Amino acid sequence: MKDITTREDIEILVNKFYDKVIKDDLIGFFFTDIAKIDLSKHLPKMYNFWESILLGNPVYEGNPMRVHFPINEVSALEERHFNRWLQIWEETIHENFEGENTETAIARALNIARIMNHKMANARGN
Ligand code: HEM
Repeated sequence: MKDITTREDIEILVNKFYDKVIKDDLIGFFFTDIAKIDLSKHLPKMYNFWESILLGNPVYEGNPMRVHFPINEVSALEERHFNRWLQIWEETIHENFEGENTETAIARALNIARIMNHKMANARGN
């Protein structure tokens, strides 16, 4: 297996992750029923987000935290949901890649998820 080194690698990873996440019995509904995401618009944002982080190309323009607050208002984004998100992310990564950047992808997601979990809990007042 190879490391994550190109935009194509990121597209493959993100596509495989979303194949699983939208079908997931614990967190799929956030994407399909609450945010009702249009994958053709959402996926390129995710490719750009991870390309910025992993390849150092500043192609992502946006605020990765902001979009989660309105979702959290409709249905609480709790630690168990972040844990499932991270589990699927790590599993998908390890099924397809290995190496330094691959481990960075897991570590960065863990950091962001922890921060996001705190921000969502604070916004709910607990
Ligand atoms: C249970 C956990 C999570 C759920 C259910 C979730 C769900 C979503 C949904 C539904 C959207 C689309 C929002 C919209 O366009 O209206 C979104 C966007 C996004 N999410 Fe998450 N997310 C989770 C965790 C994370 C984590 C841990 C990260 C980062 C490592 C992340 C990064 C992003 C980014 C970058 C966007 C695009 C923001 C933009 O529009 O620029 N999400 N998420």
